Amino acid sequence: MTSVLVTKRIWPDAIDLLRRSVDEVEYVETDDGIGAEELLTRSRGKQAIVSQLTDKFTAAVLDQLAGIRIISNVAVGFDNIDVPAAVARGILVTNTPDVLTDTTADFAWTLLMAAARRVVEGHAYVHSGQWRKWAVDLLVGQDIHHRTLGIFGLGRIGQAVARRARGFSMRVLYHDVQEIDNDLGAEFVDKETLLRESDFVSVHVPLSDATRKLIGEPELRLMKPTAILVNTSRGPVVDEAAVARALRERWIAYAGLDVFEREPQVHPDLLALENVVLAPHIASASIETRRKMSMMAAENAIAGLQGRRPPNLVQV
Ligand code: DGY
Repeated sequence: MTSVLVTKRIWPDAIDLLRRSVDEVEYVETDDGIGAEELLTRSRGKQAIVSQLTDKFTAAVLDQLAGIRIISNVAVGFDNIDVPAAVARGILVTNTPDVLTDTTADFAWTLLMAAARRVVEGHAYVHSGQWRKWAVDLLVGQDIHHRTLGIFGLGRIGQAVARRARGFSMRVLYHDVQEIDNDLGAEFVDKETLLRESDFVSVHVPLSDATRKLIGEPELRLMKPTAILVNTSRGPVVDEAAVARALRERWIAYAGLDVFEREPQVHPDLLALENVVLAPHIASASIETRRKMSMMAAENAIAGLQGRRPPNLVQV
């Protein structure tokens, strides 16, 4: 008998697929998710878990998941799971790559453009009835075209962001752990050069010990006072308190942030600023993509339960 726990609400089609393929589906059909204790209780007797980035699988939690063969994360990121510890315990971990690449890149650009052209400030201005007349310098922002975009992490999403920059005739710089062969005209530079020369800095690295606080006070101080920082990767890659200070004291001009260090909490100083666009971790949130991510996670779990190699096995 096969049995799966789905820890949080996913797309209905994915639940239908699981129900057609697995003997028992325990579905926690809420957006609240479950805490560590409930996760352990509900996992008893299951062989698979369809999880989300809010479920934390530390080595200590994994130790207590007797019988679990696969954890299928509905996300491309898997920093919520101690993958080496899972592998050591014979648990497969899967994620949902590719299907969200373009959607996430679109959203990085959404934040970049909203910040550069002050769209949120403009919306608030019109909405509050302050708009009385056209003025030559009303909410003037920055040009995007022909300027320099710096990308941290030229993986799938970073490349999709770089590809979009071609339409704006931009110079594209990137930094990564190594030079990556690309046909996007993206130029490999060291971290300092990227920070010093970019008008827009967009972060696309996975969260790991090596990337935690990749952008902190020293990095922000290297950036241009006109620069815009965009983060759609993971909150802890950027030091939120340092970004708030940099924005307040104008070491940089603007930021567009979709991810935060302690979601759903946002640093209170950021909430008080006008030169930041904030979004609630929605970079992959298009209808089509969230459905595909859910389906992919269901397919991964089913493959694992049926003893097949899941299509999107995470290997570290
Ligand atoms: C991911 O997939 O890792 C995102 O953060 C949620 O889409």
